Amino acid sequence: MTFPPPKPGILGISAYSPGRATKPDGAKAIKLSANENALGASPLAQSAFLRCSAQLHLYPDSQARALRRAIAEKFELEPERIVFGCGSDEIFALLAQAYLSPGDMIAQPEYGFAAWAIAARAAGGDVKSTPEKNHTVDVDALLAAVDARTRIVFVANPANPTGTRLPFSEIRRLHANLPSDILLVLDGAYAEYARGASDYDDGLSLARNAGNIIVTRTFSKLYGLAALRIGWGYVPAPVADALERIRPPFNTTRPAQAAALAALEDHDFVERSIAFAEHGREQLSAALTALGLEPIPSATNFVTARFPKGFPASAAEAEQRLASRGLLVRGLSNYGMPDFLRITIGPDKHMRAVISVLEECARSPR
Ligand SMILES: Cc1ncc(COP(=O)(O)O)c(C=O)c1O
Repeated sequence: MTFPPPKPGILGISAYSPGRATKPDGAKAIKLSANENALGASPLAQSAFLRCSAQLHLYPDSQARALRRAIAEKFELEPERIVFGCGSDEIFALLAQAYLSPGDMIAQPEYGFAAWAIAARAAGGDVKSTPEKNHTVDVDALLAAVDARTRIVFVANPANPTGTRLPFSEIRRLHANLPSDILLVLDGAYAEYARGASDYDDGLSLARNAGNIIVTRTFSKLYGLAALRIGWGYVPAPVADALERIRPPFNTTRPAQAAALAALEDHDFVERSIAFAEHGREQLSAALTALGLEPIPSATNFVTARFPKGFPASAAEAEQRLASRGLLVRGLSNYGMPDFLRITIGPDKHMRAVISVLEECARSPR
C-alpha cells in the first residue's frame, strides 16, 4: 500500500514528549513531571466548571468576551489585543502559521521550550538555538543569531526546563536591539512565580507600547487548569488581526473560559499557590544541595538539578528508581541536559519521599 506523504519537514519533527503520568507498569503514580499546580485547581474554578455541565450542548463564545474583559481589567490591557489559545501552545502555533514561510527562522535559547520549535518546523521554518550562560538566556548570543531570515525570537521568562529568569533590563536590551520587523515572544507560563524578584517584569509593560512584542500566559500552571487547555497572548493589534483570521473559532471551550474567569478572581488560591511554590523550591533546593546535587536557582514551581560526575547515581538511574517507587520526575535528555532531573514542587510528603529515594541513590546507585 502507498500512503500520501506529509509535506516536507514534518517527518523530521520529534513529537513533544509530555511529562510521564504513570509508572513503568502503567500504574498510577505521583506526578512531579509536568509543573502542574500541586494544590489542584481553585475551588471557585471547579464550581464554575461544574455549573457549565448544564450548557454542554452550546458552543462557547468564540471571542471569550467575559474572560477577555476580566483579563484586560486585571492586567490593564486593550481587550481587542488579547488572543486566546487552546493552551498558550496554540498561540505559538498560530504565530508560526501566520508569520513563518518555508526557510524563515526562529531564534531561541539553547534550552528553549520544545513547543516553539515544533510550531516553527510545522510551518516550514528553521530553528537556531543559541548558547546559554549558566543555564540562563544569553541576550548577546540571541542577538548575534539574528539574520535576514529571522522572523521570531522566543524567550521564556522564567524559563522551562531550567527554571532561571532574566532581569527585565536584559529583556529591554533584547527588545531595543532587535529589528522592529522581528517578533519577540515573551513566554510567561511561569511569570507569577517570579514576581518576588525586584528586577522581574512579565513584559506586559513593554508590550503595551511595542509593535513587535507578544506576551503569552497560561491558566495551566499557577491557576491549576492544565486539563482545560486555555492560554492567551497579548499581541500588537495587527498581529491580533492576522491571528484571528486563522484561529479555530471555538478553540477554547465554554468550561475552560468559565473556570479561567473564576480562577482569575480567586486571589486566595493564587496567593497560596505562589507561596507554596516559593517555599517549596527553597526547601527542595536546600535538600538537593545537602545531598551533593546541584540545583539551578529557580524562579518557578519546579527545580532542575544536575547530577554531578561524583554523584554515585546518574540522573537516568535516579529517574528510574524514583519511577519504580511511583515518583515521576522529568528527565531532560530531549533538552540536551542528560545529567539533570526536573522536579515539580509537590506537597511536603512527596518532596520528602523524593529526597529519601535520592538519599538511597547517593548510598548505592543501583
Ligand atoms: C515555558 C512554557 N511555555 C508554555 C507552556 C505551555 O503551556 P500551555 O499549557 O498553556 O499550553 C509550558 C508548559 O509546560 C511551558 O513550560
